[in-house]
Amino acid sequence: MDFALLVSAYADSHGHNNWPRQRLLHECLRAAIRNGTLAAGTRLAASRVLAEELGMARNTVLYAYEQLASEGFVSTDRRGTVVATVMASPARRAARGAVIGLSQRARQLRVVPPDAARMEAFAPGVPALDHFPMTLWRRMLERALRSMTVTQLNYGDPAGQPELRAAIADHLRAARGVACDASQVFITDGTQNSLDVCMHALADAGDTVWIENPGYGGALAAARGAGLAVAGIDVDDEGMAPSEDDWLLRPPRLIYTTPSHQYPVGSVLSLRRRHALIAAARTAGALIIEDDYDSEFRHDGAPLHAMQGLSDDAPVLYLGTFSKTMFPSLRIGFVVVPAALTDTFAQMRAQSSARGRVAEQLALAEFLYSGQFALHLRRMRRLYRQRRDALVAALERHLGSVATLHGGSAGMHLSLRFTDARINDLAVAAQAQVHRIAVNALSAHDTQGVSGWKGLMLGYAQVPAEQMEGLVKQLAAVVHLAAYAAKQFKTPYQPARRTSGRSRR
Ligand SMILES: Cc1ncc(COP(=O)(O)O)c(C=O)c1O
Repeated sequence: MDFALLVSAYADSHGHNNWPRQRLLHECLRAAIRNGTLAAGTRLAASRVLAEELGMARNTVLYAYEQLASEGFVSTDRRGTVVATVMASPARRAARGAVIGLSQRARQLRVVPPDAARMEAFAPGVPALDHFPMTLWRRMLERALRSMTVTQLNYGDPAGQPELRAAIADHLRAARGVACDASQVFITDGTQNSLDVCMHALADAGDTVWIENPGYGGALAAARGAGLAVAGIDVDDEGMAPSEDDWLLRPPRLIYTTPSHQYPVGSVLSLRRRHALIAAARTAGALIIEDDYDSEFRHDGAPLHAMQGLSDDAPVLYLGTFSKTMFPSLRIGFVVVPAALTDTFAQMRAQSSARGRVAEQLALAEFLYSGQFALHLRRMRRLYRQRRDALVAALERHLGSVATLHGGSAGMHLSLRFTDARINDLAVAAQAQVHRIAVNALSAHDTQGVSGWKGLMLGYAQVPAEQMEGLVKQLAAVVHLAAYAAKQFKTPYQPARRTSGRSRR
């Protein structure tokens, strides 16, 4: 802490340059403790040191410290003077939001529980991390670091490394039918970053964004962060299902959708609906944000091409991520923008992108070009299909009487819909946590109002096939108890013990 700066800034901003120094120091430290600049537990400089730093007599500092102690702002121990915990008065507590100047958005942030359960069974969105070819990746990373020029130690290209943009464009054209060249590909810090960029760039505060209901919490957070009005759109087994009323009464500026594998339900947006959505978006002047987060894993039948490539100049921004195909902490994703938006995006990225992780981007480009990415995908596809099969078999055996399965044909998770909607899926998910089973309740993903989807979402990519039977048996015991309670008492089932709940992502 630079106390000289603290004191002079306080004196200047309050016009107290003429005050006696003892009073100035006392008032300044008191204000700093009250507003949290000096947090509880902070050790203040020794009086001799502070006196020297401020060019004051030591007694001046000692008197100021004593006064603060008598008011309860600091305490003293053998090692010196420590800032005490200052209890805010009720009035001050109530006014804190206003004093600190929190926005409405910050005050309305949904509380996301800690990530402790990320590695537990059925946690959604987690790839088989222990199958990632780490030795190979390390080699490519080292090669990238060795190849870096002095110039490349400077800030990276705001749009992303050209080698990686080109490699992604090649991959997307061949594997996903995306119509793009490298100039349309912008590297981001993952989908969350892409969503933030898109929602800020493509809509104004108050504009309406459609988000599937139930839907992805990350999209909801980005929309709220950008001050957009969220309209939840129904989802069925053919994916997002906007009604005529939706188009008429809640016309969107943006439409966020997960067509390859709806999050969380798992349905695949039918070709008929894809064409209809593109046509209607064109008419309404809306832009579609296509989140293609886990489309590389298609287990049954050929994958549908991305919406972005379905028609010429489709009003679609295509979002991809390496969190599922590589590993989440890589934090590299991308947005493919319509050709007409490339200049605007280039400007925006120049002003706001982090411009870092050049070595990782170069290594990733090599991973793609060398064919290792495709090889890894093939291996993971095989592994995930095996795990999906084992999970489906166990679920049908143990839960087939109380739930139907959805969304197992693609991706890394599927969903289980309870046939009795009175079963409290939030309570089931909380109770399953006691057994270290990290299923998500479908209704925890409601984006607006009640979606009507009651059940569980199960991520299977990181669960070995041989563990499925035992885990599903444990889960089934919890679900059957909840189903019995719902039938018997006609009231939602409450868990025996409260646990921390689950993240919505
Ligand atoms: C629907 C959806 N989109 C995107 C992502 C990936 O996001 P990110 O690239 O920020 O890791 C996830 C992760 O779980 C997801 O569920």
